Amino acid sequence: MTQPGAFARWFHRFERLVALWMLFGWYKRVRRDGLGKFLKAAAGFVLARAKALPGVQGALNAELDKEVAKIEQKMHGAGDPTAVVSLPAAGRSAEDVLALAAERTAEEDKSGKSWGGVYHETRGPPGELSKLQAAMWARFNQTNALYPTIFTSVRKFEAEIISCCVGLVHGHEAKATLCALTDGRQGSGGVNANGKMLNGASSSSSSSSSSGSSSSSSNSAGIGSENELALPLKAWNCEGPAVGLLTSGGTESILIAIFAYRQLAYDRGIGSPEIVGCYTAHPALDKACHYFGLKLVKVKAEQATQQLRAAAVAAAMTPNTIAIYASAPTFPHGVVDPIPELAGLARARDVGLHVDNCLGGFYLSFLQKAGVFPHAFDFQVRRPSARSRPEPFSLSKMSYSLAHSLLLYLFPTHSSLLY
Ligand SMILES: Cc1ncc(COP(=O)(O)O)c(C=O)c1O
Repeated sequence: MTQPGAFARWFHRFERLVALWMLFGWYKRVRRDGLGKFLKAAAGFVLARAKALPGVQGALNAELDKEVAKIEQKMHGAGDPTAVVSLPAAGRSAEDVLALAAERTAEEDKSGKSWGGVYHETRGPPGELSKLQAAMWARFNQTNALYPTIFTSVRKFEAEIISCCVGLVHGHEAKATLCALTDGRQGSGGVNANGKMLNGASSSSSSSSSSGSSSSSSNSAGIGSENELALPLKAWNCEGPAVGLLTSGGTESILIAIFAYRQLAYDRGIGSPEIVGCYTAHPALDKACHYFGLKLVKVKAEQATQQLRAAAVAAAMTPNTIAIYASAPTFPHGVVDPIPELAGLARARDVGLHVDNCLGGFYLSFLQKAGVFPHAFDFQVRRPSARSRPEPFSLSKMSYSLAHSLLLYLFPTHSSLLY
């Protein structure tokens, strides 16, 4: 009889110890994450356990299935008995294919009331822009930008687009200050007095200069002063430290930017790099960090404005932080984060700043020119620093939803970080 009693006492003591240990763990988490986050995590834990109860998961799945069925019904209607689901035994004539395309697109909602992601005219008879796009697509759809020595026109157009856009977001102006900084230190040559672009784009600028057509993009950007000659020469597509590349969309621009920051971290000896971003960032940021193995530290936006504030970022930074991720504007709310404030923090902590400028790169630039939007959101925020190297700063901007985007950046050793 004594033996079980002793065991029970020992067991109760052990139970108390475990409870104390758990309480201490919870206390530590509350101190670290705050009560709100702890309660949320606790609720998540309880819900996850509740799902294991008999019948609960089944009921949840039934609700989920109902919602999926509603979405499918909206997308597919009653189904399509004429759908082509395997390679047809016989081919179709070109007329047939065109007729099929006409039939399918006729079903699309052209009311303009749906939320779409194409921001220019898509209804009615094609306007001038649509006709031009169609003609250009017809001319270029059999090119491959992977072969710039064969498809030299594609290469040149890309270079010129980048240069125009760099100018739009004050990249050329930032260059002037950087030139003074890097003068005689980084460059081993540079832009010539005719405003030639570097790395294969040179003939583009000079030829367009002589034809007088698109030369304004590069020349009006203020290229050519002797002071601008000493620049890092590895620049692709553009003539100054602000360079860039054309990508397939906003997500790819973000992926490449994050990859570059990871490489920069490795260059700096940081083996487990971290990015500090906001919950309001586009999910492509999560994807990029996941793909490339960076830790994404997400902070909350300020409640009233839904902006990412520097104080919150500063509190989340660690010695492993390699960059801050901001948006202008944010994907869910269309709010512009305070870029000058965040750039100041990035500069003070010697980390990079990425601004997701998808869509905003264009419309904020023009709103700014029109005097409607007074805030700096682009390369304008870069100022000379005491450091001899340019600060990493990247900007992803999306053209008007035509499945193209630009990634523009100022990096210490830019192009080598991107490939
Ligand atoms: C702010 C922002 N970032 C990133 C993206 C992703 O761009 P994409 O859909 O071209 O990949 C979008 C798209 O809407 C966006 O609005």
